[in-house]
Amino acid sequence: RGGAPSNIFIYGTTGTGKTAVTKQVLSKLKERAESRDLAFKYSYMNCQHVDTKYRVLTQLCEDIGIDVPFTGLHFDVIYQKFKEALDDLDTLHVTVLDEVDMLYKKSSESLYVLTRMNSDLESSKISIIGITNDVNFKETLDPRIRSSLSEEEIVFSPYTAEQLNDILTQRSDVAFHKGILEFGVINLCSAVGAQQHGDARRSLDLLRVAAELAERNGDEKVTEIHVRKAQQVIERNTVIEVLTSLPIQTKAVLQAIFMGEGKTEAITTGDVYEIYSKICKLVRLDILTTRRVGDLINELDMLGIITAQVISKGRGGRSKRIHLTVPHRQVREVLESDFRLSKIFEVDSI
Ligand SMILES: Nc1ncnc2c1ncn2[C@@H]1O[C@H](COP(=O)(O)OP(=O)(O)O)[C@@H](O)[C@H]1O
Ligand SMILES: [Mg+2]
Repeated sequence: RGGAPSNIFIYGTTGTGKTAVTKQVLSKLKERAESRDLAFKYSYMNCQHVDTKYRVLTQLCEDIGIDVPFTGLHFDVIYQKFKEALDDLDTLHVTVLDEVDMLYKKSSESLYVLTRMNSDLESSKISIIGITNDVNFKETLDPRIRSSLSEEEIVFSPYTAEQLNDILTQRSDVAFHKGILEFGVINLCSAVGAQQHGDARRSLDLLRVAAELAERNGDEKVTEIHVRKAQQVIERNTVIEVLTSLPIQTKAVLQAIFMGEGKTEAITTGDVYEIYSKICKLVRLDILTTRRVGDLINELDMLGIITAQVISKGRGGRSKRIHLTVPHRQVREVLESDFRLSKIFEVDSI
């Protein structure tokens, strides 16, 4: 209607349909605009990959059909090019920044530039949709950006088991021959997703992996047993992924806990530090202070990899009793695949 459109801020936990729904709505808007001969453009980018102001602008240019060289142009030049080209189109442009928290962390300036672009445009209008899985992200935003980005807010709440059931039923009608899924399979996948903060991705993955397991096994039907197995496969993969991505010092602490648990029943922060120091000497890592190692232990606790329970507050500071909560086999697998830490398993005693 010609007025400046609001920017929209969308948030909710993972798998609640933010990305899927936003894309769907945009393509519907585009259809409708076309059928009524209205100017409408949009650009979707995932800020995990598009994470500098240069990349954002390059992407925007490409999406309205202007070529920019990969490198070499000054940012202001690209900005100007985009602005002029957009103004020539005399259009409404919606810029979707999915996982916008990633962009903000690496280049808050990009967001600032984008939220101010309307005041530079003459005949076109730009509206920004920022999406994030991080429900606390808004609080960390620079107030100037926050007020502009969240002119309107949409919260995506977790899917209920019933809604997940609908999504899975719809998908499976397309993906599977009739009668392949045994009764109860979809219900189980939906129930698991609902427990995992209403995560549709989790439910869909579960169904997909269950079907793959059945196929690999030469079974004619997908049963609840396949779903249970799939659940184990997925959980195992998530644990391995989390452990593999830990920084080396945290991994060394984890290794100390792993080795300590093999020796005694109740391992304490003091024990961990002792073994950790030996590991560091053997693989030539800097030895951090007890305090820093305490922080890393807390991080492992927060990630749910260990539990650390305070047992005394003696002169030496707080001592905690530590337990690994993830399967030892998986911890070992990850540590053995680390080229530095794997050496420790070749040492006779530590
Ligand atoms: N309402 C829905 N109907 C059909 N599929 C959906 C729906 N919501 C989510 N999905 C599917 O669930 C998965 C996760 O959704 P997604 O939009 O990526 O979540 P988010 O972006 O909130 O993390 C995707 O595969 C998506 O296609
Ligand atoms: Mg998403």
